[in-house]
Amino acid sequence: MAKDVIIACDFSSAADTLSFLDQFHGRKPFVKIGMELYYAEGPSIVREIKRRGHKIFLDLKLHDIPNTVKKAMRVLSQLDVDMTNVHAAGTSEMMRAAIEGLTRPDGTRPLLIAVTQLTSTSQERMQQELLIGASIQDTIVHYAVNAQQSGLDGVVCSPLESSLVKQHCGAQFLTVTPGIRFADAAKDDQVRITTPARAREIGSDYIVVGRPITQAADPVAAYERCIREFLG
Ligand code: C5P
Repeated sequence: MAKDVIIACDFSSAADTLSFLDQFHGRKPFVKIGMELYYAEGPSIVREIKRRGHKIFLDLKLHDIPNTVKKAMRVLSQLDVDMTNVHAAGTSEMMRAAIEGLTRPDGTRPLLIAVTQLTSTSQERMQQELLIGASIQDTIVHYAVNAQQSGLDGVVCSPLESSLVKQHCGAQFLTVTPGIRFADAAKDDQVRITTPARAREIGSDYIVVGRPITQAADPVAAYERCIREFLG
């Protein structure tokens, strides 16, 4: 299975994103495009980064009625991204519809990953505000199993939940984990964090790294360090 470091390109314009990527010269890191950049620039930024030879994780976290998600996924499948995602809270029916929409006429499709519970949601808030009575860990495992049974390839989760998900869904079920920080660096607003080396030990397949690379004095060196620590 291909393990990799995905750079979260949380920029608000194509110009900032492309000048950031220009620094990498011959290297073609796997790139995550999120809502901010996609809503600012639309599909053209996806096409341009793809044209430059990068793999893309399009992180739009779809969550709507199954038919709407299916039709939206049909559009995204034509963008030739490598990975995209939905909220598992949209139900198994919605996740199956997403797979259907994403599958191209030739049978190929990008990897489809489910968001379980966002790491910004605390157990207390989940129970009191959303009236979900289970523990946050049980909810995450249950959502991951639903995603797997719906045919998805994996989940986005905190690195600390990665081994729990693997225990229930098997080693082949992908875990994509943000919340990565170098041992000697600032946490920013992330709470449950781990280092690239620890993420490897825990079994993450892909780590998503934003500010430790994008805000570094030398982003290429920070990326290389991530690769060295994560891939060993
Ligand atoms: O800058 P940093 O490394 O914290 O960026 C992490 C990236 O992963 C951001 O794009 C953030 O939106 C995303 N993410 C996250 N936690 C989640 C899901 C996505 O940090 N649970």
